[in-house]
Amino acid sequence: MRLLVTGGAGFIGANFVHRTVREHPEYEVTVLDALTYAGNEASLAGVREAITFVHGSITDAALVDDLVRGSDAVVHFAAESHNDNSLADPGPFLQTNVVGTYTLLEAVRRHDVRFHHVSTDEVYGDLELDDPRKFTPETPYNPSSPYSSTKAASDLLVRAWVRSYGVRATLSNCSNNYGPYQHVEKFIPRQITNVLDGRRPKLYGAGLNVRDWIHVDDHNAAVHEVLQRGRTGHTYLIGADGEVDNRTVLATVLELMGQPADAFDSVTDRAGHDLRYAIDATKLREELGWRPRYTDFREGLAATIAWYRDNEAWWRPLKDQVEAAYAARGQ
Ligand code: NAD
Ligand code: DAU
Repeated sequence: MRLLVTGGAGFIGANFVHRTVREHPEYEVTVLDALTYAGNEASLAGVREAITFVHGSITDAALVDDLVRGSDAVVHFAAESHNDNSLADPGPFLQTNVVGTYTLLEAVRRHDVRFHHVSTDEVYGDLELDDPRKFTPETPYNPSSPYSSTKAASDLLVRAWVRSYGVRATLSNCSNNYGPYQHVEKFIPRQITNVLDGRRPKLYGAGLNVRDWIHVDDHNAAVHEVLQRGRTGHTYLIGADGEVDNRTVLATVLELMGQPADAFDSVTDRAGHDLRYAIDATKLREELGWRPRYTDFREGLAATIAWYRDNEAWWRPLKDQVEAAYAARGQ
């Protein structure tokens, strides 16, 4: 299997590459990554010799055509991924998430290459706290932010290329990931590194928003299942029944790091802040037999805290700039 992984120097993509090299040493893995502020070659240390790394953009049609032509399958992680950035400047989200996905789709169409599109539960909008329903593959699209609307657009392009051109594509929409190599702009690593750095953690608004947390390794295990056995044109929702509100996540981080429960600041809320996400992963579990390994969020969080404690050299160069940008927005 010659596998092209877009966005393989980002959080989930890098974890996916590590897993693939470990579990499928017979695969030939090529990573295509633009090394934006969110990409980091250091995340591939340890597997760098086992893969081919190409520095370039998924919007570069000639480069994409060349790489896709030499591949059996593409797993597409590359994206602009942070909601707060999309509110500040949506332009790069349109380019990478929409035009980049279109560029890949045209190449896999030309060369009849298998395509797996990695997407998010945010395409479905948000739920009330007391809504008994969760997101299913049948839930209507209703994205809220520039980020989630561009991911929704990319999903619709993939579906259209399946139906119109017979492209052999699958889609997965996952809930919030946590684990090693996540950029310090994101909620959990931001708070962990704030504590490690002697800064106060920052909670948006009242912290009542609920996210459905899943360990990144469980997400990637599911992506491999879908890649190998998913049905063309089908969408698989990935989630591990991990609903927790932000206040509780932060309280757990503070406790695990030996901090007082009130050692945080409440800051300006996110504009249009989605209230709650929740995934029904029945299809993935029943059709592909996937099960999460990380079923204890507290344990997964403790391991993640230990990773950031042990890997300061990885996050330290990113921290000051991220905090300066947040401070300028009152967050
Ligand atoms: P990330 O921001 O950590 O990494 C994105 C990677 O894509 C970076 O390495 C970046 O350099 C690269 N990239 C950006 N623009 C590019 C371009 N034009 N060409 C090539 N590479 C480019 O993101 P992540 O959190 O790892 O998310 C990966 C994918 O998973 C995204 O598609 C995201 O929408 C989806 N997703 C993320 C989560 C989550 O909780 N983080 C949950 C569900 C789905
Ligand atoms: O649901 C999947 C999505 O999860 C992915 O598609 C996105 O790529 C990923 O970034 C994530 O989106 P969120 O917006 O939910 O994640 P974020 O880590 O930015 O924020 C999680 C929650 O924490 C959210 O309710 C906002 C809140 N928050 C965030 C930050 C950065 C805070 O309270 N304080 C903070 O400092």
